[in-house]
Amino acid sequence: MKASNLTWHQTTITKQERRNQNGHGSCVLWFTGLSGSGKSTIANAVSSELFRHGINEYVLDGDNIRHGLNKDLGFSEQDRTENIRRIGEVAKLFVDSGKIVTTAFISPFQADRDQVRELFDDDEFFEIHIDCPLEECEKRDPKQLYAKARRGEIKDFTGINSPYEEPENPDLVIHTNLLSIQESVEVIIHFLQKKNLL
Ligand code: PPS
Repeated sequence: MKASNLTWHQTTITKQERRNQNGHGSCVLWFTGLSGSGKSTIANAVSSELFRHGINEYVLDGDNIRHGLNKDLGFSEQDRTENIRRIGEVAKLFVDSGKIVTTAFISPFQADRDQVRELFDDDEFFEIHIDCPLEECEKRDPKQLYAKARRGEIKDFTGINSPYEEPENPDLVIHTNLLSIQESVEVIIHFLQKKNLL
C-alpha cells in the first residue's frame, strides 16, 4: 500500500552548493552490459583514477547491492526491473550529494534504463554500454556462471536464457574486447571532461 500524508523537504544545502564546494559536477555513469563484459573492472578503475585526483566519487555494483539493499530480489524480469528502479533512486541521492557515481549493473532492459534516465536532468545521467561480444564474455567466464548456465544450473541467465537489450542510443560505448582497462578509463575521463563535469 502506498504511503500518504508525505511532504518533500528541500535540503538546506543544495546540490549546486555541494558541487561548488567539490569543485566539480555530479552525475551518474550508468554502465550496462553482459555479465563478464568488464563493468565492475572498468567502474573500479575509473573510480580509482577519479579518487586519485580528489574527485568525490562512488561505485554501486550489482553483486554488492544484491548482498544487502536488494537481497530480496532474484533475476526474474520483474525483480530485475525493481532492482534497477531502486538503484536509480539510490544513484539520484548520490548525485544530489555531489558525487560522480558509477553504477555497474547488467540492467538488461531498455525500458528500465529509460525510466532511470527520467529521474535526472539531461546533464546528469549518461548511459554507457560496456560492450563485449557474448562469445568473449563466455570465454572469460570469470565466475564460471556461463558454464553453469549452459549446464542448465542457472535459469534466467543473461545472454543465455534471459535477454539483454543493447542500448538504443547510448551516450558512450566502450568496447572492452578492443581497449585495455587503462584505455577504457581514459575514454571515460575524457568524456567527463568534455561534459564539463571535471
Ligand atoms: S540485473 O540484471 O541488472 O538486475 O543484474 P545485476 O544486479 O547487475 O546482477 C548481476 C550479477 O549477478 C550475478 N548473477 C546473474 N547475472 C545474470 N543473470 C543471472 N541469472 C545471474 N545470477 C547471478 C552475476 O555475478 C552478475 O554480475 P556481473 O558482474 O554482471 O557478472
